[in-house]
Amino acid sequence: MRPIVTKTARDQDTGRRPSLFYGSAREGMRDFLAHTLASPDDGVLLPAFIGLSPREGSGVLDPVLSVGAQAGFYNLNPDLTVDVDDLERRLSTDSYRVVVIIHYYGRTEPRLAAIRTLADATGALVVEDLAHGFFTALSGGTAGRHGHLNLFSLHKMFPFDDGGMVQYATTDLLRGQAQTRPELAQRILDYDWATIARARRENFLVLSERLAALPECGRDFDFLWEHLGDDDVPQTLPVRILSDRRDAIYAGMNADGYGMVSLYHTLIEQVRGRFEVLEELSRHIINFPVHQDVRVADVDGMLESFRRHLAMGDQS
Ligand SMILES: Cc1ncc(COP(=O)(O)O)c(C=O)c1O
Repeated sequence: MRPIVTKTARDQDTGRRPSLFYGSAREGMRDFLAHTLASPDDGVLLPAFIGLSPREGSGVLDPVLSVGAQAGFYNLNPDLTVDVDDLERRLSTDSYRVVVIIHYYGRTEPRLAAIRTLADATGALVVEDLAHGFFTALSGGTAGRHGHLNLFSLHKMFPFDDGGMVQYATTDLLRGQAQTRPELAQRILDYDWATIARARRENFLVLSERLAALPECGRDFDFLWEHLGDDDVPQTLPVRILSDRRDAIYAGMNADGYGMVSLYHTLIEQVRGRFEVLEELSRHIINFPVHQDVRVADVDGMLESFRRHLAMGDQS
């Protein structure tokens, strides 16, 4: 007799998410697009906050351009969540085969379900860009569970020189894509993901609490978001510098030994002059490190350096 309940799991597809490993997230995205877009008219709709660096190019836009696809752009709110009304407008104006949602700095985009509904109505595939959110996607929340595929940048989360992963929600999206770095599947298992995630969350919570208590908070800088969602594991802690001292603070703190970044300090030229609020943000954003190597004991020194460089403009 066929069992009603088997002794062990037998269904090959329950919970399955075929994952392919690459040298970078952009390489994986390119492989997906090359095997999915049928013609140059199949556009890719991207968020308008995308950076460009002279050394690295644009990790988000380059794969789109490299397959010869048309890129369109939708607006974001000042906290980098999706402006769903604008997304809807763009989807109804032009035809897109792919929509990219970025979970900036590991924070879960809150309107994923509504976005997926809009995309389904136009037949567009949703890419959840979790380049900053490998651990967020593992937390069991909504990130990584509404897209047709998830994109991960492993070298941004693990101490690797390179590495990317594409995780498909269903096997029917696999049409000849070929991973180039299968050994990374083993390498990521050499790390304790829960310990790393806990350290990142703890660092964010300590740092944000200490920043919020500074007299300069609200006057010289403010938060993009101060609170960490229960399921979020941050890549960095972004703040907005309210003066024009962002680049000086960046340079000064790095010279002091604190690895600040500005993601993104320069936007791709395709969006310049079109999304004023986001362009302004790119001139003021700076991101504190909260990764697993940051020790809570280093936070005092980091904040002292931050305050010194914040204040320098006042003395000149
Ligand atoms: C949001 C986002 N997506 C994708 C990428 C591409 O990642 P990778 O460097 O692994 O190609 C980057 C970084 O460039 C990124 O910041």
